[in-house]
Amino acid sequence: MKEEATGAPRRDRVSPFKVAIVGFGTVGRSVARILCEHTPVELRLTHVYNRDVERKRVSWVPPHVEWTGSIEDVLSSNVDVMVELIGGLKPAENWIRRALLSGKSVVTANKQLISQRGPELLELARRQGERIGFEASVAGGIPVVSGLQAGLAGDQLFRVAGILNGTCNYILTRMEASRWPFVAAVKEAQDLGFAEANPAEDVDGYDARAKLAILARVGLQCQIHPSDIVCRSISVIEAIDFTYALRLGCTIRQVSRAEKDVHGEAQLFACVQPALVPLSSPLARVQGSQNLVMTTGKFGGETVFSGHGAGGDPTAVAVVSDLIGIARSRRELDRLGRSKSKNAIYRIPRGKSHRVIGEFASSHYVRFTVRDRPGIIASLATIFSNYGINIDAVFQEPGSDKSRLPFVITLEECSNSVLESALGEIKNFDFHVQPPVSLPILV
Ligand SMILES: NC(=O)c1ccc[n+]([C@@H]2O[C@H](COP(=O)([O-])OP(=O)(O)OC[C@H]3O[C@@H](n4cnc5c(N)ncnc54)[C@H](OP(=O)(O)O)[C@@H]3O)[C@@H](O)[C@H]2O)c1
Repeated sequence: MKEEATGAPRRDRVSPFKVAIVGFGTVGRSVARILCEHTPVELRLTHVYNRDVERKRVSWVPPHVEWTGSIEDVLSSNVDVMVELIGGLKPAENWIRRALLSGKSVVTANKQLISQRGPELLELARRQGERIGFEASVAGGIPVVSGLQAGLAGDQLFRVAGILNGTCNYILTRMEASRWPFVAAVKEAQDLGFAEANPAEDVDGYDARAKLAILARVGLQCQIHPSDIVCRSISVIEAIDFTYALRLGCTIRQVSRAEKDVHGEAQLFACVQPALVPLSSPLARVQGSQNLVMTTGKFGGETVFSGHGAGGDPTAVAVVSDLIGIARSRRELDRLGRSKSKNAIYRIPRGKSHRVIGEFASSHYVRFTVRDRPGIIASLATIFSNYGINIDAVFQEPGSDKSRLPFVITLEECSNSVLESALGEIKNFDFHVQPPVSLPILV
């Protein structure tokens, strides 16, 4: 379909706002339940779309709601907002474009779509005088997108850090509490419905980096693509790492971080990786599938948002809050006698894309698993010294099997690229039973 800035039909904006849910799965069902039970006065559910829709019908949705298995019924209707909850890039992107072009606003929880195509879709919405709400795409029910965009609009944010993937946090906190192996914690998360049958999207960091890309855009005004963000998997973590971390006054979390270059360059430091965090940090206190986002601003300092990062009901709250926000602002425009607004609900960062660098200087924790023999520490110390890296301390838990001995070296602050070069050389030694595991130690 040709994209045009004109041609959207004039609609009667008198409340209630007519809402179509597209995708009646976990979140779609919860959105419908809130709209039917709590019934915000501004909103009226009129359509539910899903493929093979008959198997989705539920008795608690009122009879005036049209159930349909054809998306054309939604796109050609006079609904005011389409709520996209099918996920993925295709056909979601196409349906959202068509909804905007036919004079409908859109609310979505789709992090992949917003992180990859958000700027273009927001620009199309702006041209059409429509809105896109995507609060639910990051940290589920935590109002972090509006918190950054509106609540902290008066500050100049330069850092965002957080726990953005509840599945990883569930796995790591289970390993922390029970000293379970990684695979056992993943299995329990799968049995409880917290992890997918293939958990790679979560444990390898791809889910979190999509959310980090959105936060970097809305909070730091940095134009980046999620694939530019370096990800490191939590699958290398073993139960023994929590024992050593505790000796250092720390625990381990999957941390997503983005920080603007303070020298004003168009570059951003960003990565998603497991890291040691001090027990006193808010990040360490995040348990189970909860999420947390910490921002740092030039004037306001640190602000923390936390709560349920996923699940049908919390995510649906974010969706319905976006719907109410759009309906109220449209009502206000109507009251002022303006039918269209070119002001997007969320600001769109402009200008050229930021360069993303996965490089942070920090102290490091490195766990080696070796066949024990004299001289190992001396060999490692020589290589670290050759790269200008200072050893801080060496830890070894008593009573380990000498044929598979784990021990930890902590290193003074160095960049991760220098450490990786040193470890590249260290990997050539024949005493390793498995490759060394290095984690930054966050302060
Ligand atoms: N669940 C959460 O906790 C959570 C949290 C934050 C954000 N989100 C986001 O919310 C969105 C929805 O997630 P969800 O957990 O509700 O997913 P879900 O349970 O899999 O529901 C998706 C629904 O959309 C339908 N659907 C999928 N592709 C379709 C297609 N091509 N045509 C027609 N119908 C289609 C599915 O139908 P079938 O039953 O036939 O497959 C299903 O009913 C995703 O973008 C997700 O990332 C979810």
